[in-house]
Amino acid sequence: MSETPPKKRRSQAWFGGSSKDHFIHRSWMKSEGLPDDSFDGRPVIGICNTWSDLTPCNQHFRQLADKVRHGVLQAGGLPLEFPVSSLGETLMRPTAMLYRNLASIDVEEALRAHPLDGVVLLAGCDKTTPATLMGAASVDLPTIVVSGGAMLNGRYRGETIGSGTHVWKFAAAVAAGTMSQVEFMQAESCMSRSAGVCMTMGTASTMACLAEALGVALPDNAAIPAVDSRRSELAQRAGRQIVEMVRREVRLSHILTRHAFENAIRVCGAIGGSTNAVIHLLAIAGRVGVPLSLEDWDRLGRDIPTIVDLMPSGRFLMEDFYYAGGLPAVMRRLLEAGLLHADAVSVNGLTLAQNVAQAECFDEEVIRPLDKPLVAQGGLAILRGNLAPDGAVIKPSAATPALLRHTGRAVVFESIEDYKQRIDAPDLAVEPSSILVLKNCGPKGYPGMAEVGNMGLPPKLLRAGVTDMVRISDARMSGTAYGTVILHVAPEAAAGGPLALVQEGDMIELDVERRHLQLLVDAAELERRRAAWSAPAIPASGYARLYVEHVQQANLGADLDFLVGCRGDAVPRESH
Ligand code: FES
Repeated sequence: MSETPPKKRRSQAWFGGSSKDHFIHRSWMKSEGLPDDSFDGRPVIGICNTWSDLTPCNQHFRQLADKVRHGVLQAGGLPLEFPVSSLGETLMRPTAMLYRNLASIDVEEALRAHPLDGVVLLAGCDKTTPATLMGAASVDLPTIVVSGGAMLNGRYRGETIGSGTHVWKFAAAVAAGTMSQVEFMQAESCMSRSAGVCMTMGTASTMACLAEALGVALPDNAAIPAVDSRRSELAQRAGRQIVEMVRREVRLSHILTRHAFENAIRVCGAIGGSTNAVIHLLAIAGRVGVPLSLEDWDRLGRDIPTIVDLMPSGRFLMEDFYYAGGLPAVMRRLLEAGLLHADAVSVNGLTLAQNVAQAECFDEEVIRPLDKPLVAQGGLAILRGNLAPDGAVIKPSAATPALLRHTGRAVVFESIEDYKQRIDAPDLAVEPSSILVLKNCGPKGYPGMAEVGNMGLPPKLLRAGVTDMVRISDARMSGTAYGTVILHVAPEAAAGGPLALVQEGDMIELDVERRHLQLLVDAAELERRRAAWSAPAIPASGYARLYVEHVQQANLGADLDFLVGCRGDAVPRESH
């Protein structure tokens, strides 16, 4: 690909002329102290920043943006930083997922409306990576993701503790009476002790890994700790590289190919990635126009061993992962086993094979050999049956092996409020073999598809030593969570899916090996129940109403139907 003549760059529609409009565009920018030659046709690079005090995982992004800015200037570009909606996982209610698509609109429209030739996306906390990538994919400028990196390892009373994962463990210990409330509170500051995302292989680190596997981030992007100087160096190199991508006209769609998505799905299995990645990758693929389905997840992930021994499936944390060689070491192992497409091109212009050729593993406890995996079949499994005609997701590596084939009696909760009200009751009719069923927590039902699918076990069973049960819902679960948890049941209950028809005492059959999830109730009885079912009310107004009316089901990525696809970077008409 040859270099584009400067005057043809997109930004020149704003800056490259002598009309009243060009005067306005340049004059007001000069109030920022920009000299004349800033507008001479050099690549104009947006630094799309998801910094917010309300998103502690992204608290260091203003410093990171400065490093990108240095890189852009070094390469002869003009860096222009701009804010977009930030989505902090821990504070947003009812769930940050309700706002993923809204934030993607923010990114898409900001990119198209402004004089930008390329963009660096600063993303960290869970939804900020898919939201920014979805928005950017719908515009298709040259694009690089710079992830914020994970926080330092947690330590509490001599034990290594992981974000989220130990919250669930500690909460269960308090419920079981083996941890005091004082100890529970002491652990808070021991868990989160630096800037950066959750340091388990939760959704944020999974999406950072998948950004690298997709080729939209530089090698090593996934695992360098947030506070490591090498993260700043990577951001600076990304600033240089985005200028080069603009000069070479390498758009996001050149990187986000079918091969790239297939590589990402396989990498997700190898790292023991979050179930949320299924929804996010489907949505990103939908924006860029690459056909991708739940079947691809099952087929491509089926024989992938999980070789990264990180919580919640394993023992270590992201800091350990980086020191062990990070994602390039994992990808080299997969590539040498013929499990990745070697020809997929990354934002640095090199193929996957070239990028991982020198990768080394320095700790085989953390990044295991393929023949000594943490889990032999580590991919996410897609279940089907009369309970989930359009699919459901389970992460076998985070489940109890003995429960992967199980038949049990349903204990049904009609909503998360119903669950919270009854789960602690001593007289709850539940046994260790029961299956907990939670309804109305899907995209439309919650709304926003909250991370409540890993519902805690009844305290009376916890006190009896039960550590896992089969749980089924149309919800998601945190990537830091674990258990035999079936998620994303589609269609969801609020959309009239069969999940809505499950009643207390029904028998449910699960067989993960056969990818089978069946409600053992005859069809005539289900029809009778369907006739008596009515859809829940939808929000009266506001964004929540727009969302509920247009959100797609989980098996399609839970994007808004009118946002699917790429609308391009055509310069909007003049405003003055
Ligand atoms: Fe932000 Fe986990 S809460 S990454």
